[in-house]
Order: sequence, then structure tokens, then C-alpha cells
Amino acid sequence: MSERTHKSLEQAKQEGKYIRTVRSFVKREGRLTKGQAVALESHWHEMGLTHEQGLVDFTQVFGNDNPVVLEIGFGMGKSLVEMAKQAPELNFVGIEVHRPGVGACIAFAKEQGVENLRVYEHDAIEILADCIADDCLQTVQLFFPDPWHKKKHHKRRIVQPSFIEAIRKKLKPGGVFHMATDWENYAECMVEDMQQAPGFVNLSETNDYVPRPDNRPLTKFEQRGQRLGHGVWDIQYQKQ
Ligand SMILES: C[S@@+](CC[C@H](N)C(=O)[O-])C[C@H]1O[C@@H](n2cnc3c(N)ncnc32)[C@H](O)[C@@H]1O
Repeated sequence: MSERTHKSLEQAKQEGKYIRTVRSFVKREGRLTKGQAVALESHWHEMGLTHEQGLVDFTQVFGNDNPVVLEIGFGMGKSLVEMAKQAPELNFVGIEVHRPGVGACIAFAKEQGVENLRVYEHDAIEILADCIADDCLQTVQLFFPDPWHKKKHHKRRIVQPSFIEAIRKKLKPGGVFHMATDWENYAECMVEDMQQAPGFVNLSETNDYVPRPDNRPLTKFEQRGQRLGHGVWDIQYQKQ
């Protein structure tokens, strides 16, 4: 670790900021298309939220008290924008680390006239720890998180007991954590970890998976999985 990083890590810890060392993503520097760059430049001030802002007051951000749905790792944001458009009575917040995805999401939201959506370009683990108040989310959705296929990489999977506990804290009582994956082993691990986590009830009648909910639009990764003949597992747990 370089001295510079070490110093900033120490500083951050002293300031009480949450810092993690094993991450669920590899930062890709992918180039922005012109449309993504223009969207970020023109609309970030309306739609962007930052880690530096700290604890966020969603009533102030959205100008209303509507329930808040948080999506982690929205990719290019197409399904998130579609959901926000279909449900103007809810507020949506997306978190994604991939800058071109954030640009694409903002561009599509503007094209669709969606106003009930804000986005972070940051690691969701740090946003959960530093920016989201406890007991404030109606739904947390995690669709097709990176599966990290190899066993030696499973520690990079975002769904871990500590992540589940962070989600539990941020959900309102009665709020729902909705996961979907096309990787069977990850689906099994998700259910196993959720079963062991305190404070959640499985919404599945069979105590494992739920039927694909109608309000979840087909995501890019799901479409790809379908072409490859993968199954899809939806998992929903409610906070007690
Ligand atoms: C396999 S993609 C799925 C994207 C989208 N949900 C879909 O179904 O098309 C997983 C996404 O999660 C993002 N991601 C992974 N870890 C993250 C984290 N800790 N915080 C925010 N985004 C993350 C990645 O950048 C990637 O875009």
C-alpha cells in the first residue's frame, strides 16, 4: 500500500468514514460515449448525489415524502429508468460505480422524462454506511450482481453477512430486499446467508425463491442470460 493511500485511509477512518478493502467490482475505465458525457455534464447537477454530501434527506432531495426504492449496481440503468417511469408514486435512487453506466442512465431518464430518480457514482457499500439513514428505505433491489464464479473470488461477492446487515438497518420495518441472479450457486448462497441473518422473513411460499415479479423489467444481463439458456432466481426477504 502506498504511503499516500495509507494516509488517506487513516484520515478517512479518523473521520469515521467506512472504508472497505475487498471490493465487489473492478473499476473499468470504459470510455464515455458523447451522449453519456453530455448527459453527465448537463444533468448531473439535477440528478447526481455524492458521497461527500454525507447523510442524505430524501424528503428534501425529492421534494416529497414518497417511499424510496434503492437499486445497487444498476449497470446502464435501463430497467431502473423503466421502473421509475412506471411508478411515479415512488422515489428511486440508483448506485453504480461504472461511469458510462451512470451517464447512460441519466441520458435515458431525461429522454423518458423521468423525474423521480437520483443516482450515485460510487461504491454502494460506502454509500450505505455514510449516506443513507437507518429505517428509511421501502425496497432495496440488487439485480444480477457480479457472480464472481470462482470459489477463490467468492469473498468479492457483494452479498455477504455484513452487507445483509447493512441492508437490514437501512430498510424500514416491512421493507423488502429483492435480489435476482442467473447464477444458481450465487442464488443458493444468497438464500443461505439470508436464512441465517436475523430480522428477515422469506416472502417465498417454499422458503427459497419467488416467481419473477411483473414489475421487474428485463435487464441487459438477464437478456444475455436468457440467450445463453440460464435460469433466473428471484429472492425477496422482508424486514421484520
Ligand atoms: C453484472 S452487472 C448487472 C447490471 C444490471 N443490474 C443488469 O442487470 O443489467 C453488475 C453491476 O454492479 C456494479 N457494481 C458492482 N459492485 C458495486 C458496488 N459495490 N457499488 C456499486 N455498483 C457496483 C457493476 O459496476 C456492474 O455494473
